[in-house]
Amino acid sequence: RRNLLKATAVAGAYGAGVGFAGRFGSAQAAGDPTLLEAVMREAAITGNAATQGVLTYQASLPGAGVMPPALRLKRGEPFAAQLKNSIDEPTTIHWHGMRIDNAMDGVPFLTQPYVYPGDTFDYRFTPPDAGTFWYHPHCNTLTQMGHGLTGLLIVEDPKDPVFDAEIALNLRDWRLGGNGQFIEQFKARDAAKAGTYGTVRTANWQVEPVYDAPAGGLVRVRIAVTDVTRIYNLQLEGADALIVAIDGQPVPVAMPLDFAVVSPGQRLDLVVRMPDSEGTVVQLEDIRPSTPKTVASFRSIGASLRRSLDDVPPLAPNPPVEADLSSATEIPLVLSATAENAAKDSICGSLGYSFWAINKKPWPGDTEDPTAPIAELKLGQTYLLNLENVTPHAHPIHLHGMNFQVVSSSTRQVLPLVSDTYLILPDEKVQLALVADNPGDWVFHCHIIEHQKTGMTGYLRVA
Ligand code: C2O
Ligand code: CU
Repeated sequence: RRNLLKATAVAGAYGAGVGFAGRFGSAQAAGDPTLLEAVMREAAITGNAATQGVLTYQASLPGAGVMPPALRLKRGEPFAAQLKNSIDEPTTIHWHGMRIDNAMDGVPFLTQPYVYPGDTFDYRFTPPDAGTFWYHPHCNTLTQMGHGLTGLLIVEDPKDPVFDAEIALNLRDWRLGGNGQFIEQFKARDAAKAGTYGTVRTANWQVEPVYDAPAGGLVRVRIAVTDVTRIYNLQLEGADALIVAIDGQPVPVAMPLDFAVVSPGQRLDLVVRMPDSEGTVVQLEDIRPSTPKTVASFRSIGASLRRSLDDVPPLAPNPPVEADLSSATEIPLVLSATAENAAKDSICGSLGYSFWAINKKPWPGDTEDPTAPIAELKLGQTYLLNLENVTPHAHPIHLHGMNFQVVSSSTRQVLPLVSDTYLILPDEKVQLALVADNPGDWVFHCHIIEHQKTGMTGYLRVA
């Protein structure tokens, strides 16, 4: 359906976003903005032919390569980025997991106008949390993300422990044919199930990359699954590791890694204790039964530093979710399949089908007159999101702008983790506690992008 390459014709007709002037306030001043220019180029993904039509953010940063850069911010310090749109259709940037001003959230029509081809948009915010986050467009999302526009966003805290090395991994697939060129981004019959999988799996745009790391050292590995579909079961072969943060949030007590389920949108921070002997290779594996795969490897180099995982200090904590459950208002959110077709044609919005719904309403797409919010929340109040998945598929449900805390599940033991994304399994009911502490319209959607764009989207209004 909507195809990036055929968007040129429409581009000229958009004008310059007339009608939005003055509607969207600007945030506080910050330092020199980082330029993030969305461009189309070719890139070597498979090692066969160069892939045409790859999208990336070209950055005004030292050492920036072909893929979107891993941005490094500091907690509590203003950050500014200028998005320059040099592709031939509108785009925006959403800062996934950032609790920032609604006007900076990057959702067309709900929080900002389209950024038209040739235009710029200034994003400014001060990250309140440290951790591993990421950024991506929120317009024609399946194609734009699928073609490359996903990058890591790392927020450092000066109080964080220092490790012997750090490796950041952006895990994602590409839908490429045997000739290394893009094939159709999705199949409707798969969008109505678990989603359409990529054909080439990469970490940092490389197939099975190998990273050197100090022998016997403690390495912080930051992992973000930025794929549009794939859920990972990650395991480490050849070394011990601790899980120190999930979805950007430090865990209260570091846990030994057995395996970890990481779904689209989610992050995992590990501390890996590298083997002592030089040349030993440790493998990060996806052990999901249907498609096991080595994702990346780490190779010990140098004389052993002889560190111990017992000495890993805790990460600096993020502000907690101060939920007062005794006064909480419950909000039912039922995730279901739907037969009702609500899809409207819009530039950023829909794939043209409705397969999924929240509270029986399929989202029609991002349009000038979005449907009403799922719920209206009072600023400062505590809510319990009562999520129920009545579909036979898992859904990584993501909330913008605020964190929730997992309270209980009907089907499994859950930790009281703070997060922005929860992978709800088939037939599961889960309660998420939320303090409505950030005013605005906050999108709430499945991060399997085909599900998001075929109905499983809504938003909460906080005022
Ligand atoms: Cu990464 Cu609307 O999401
Ligand atoms: Cu889903």
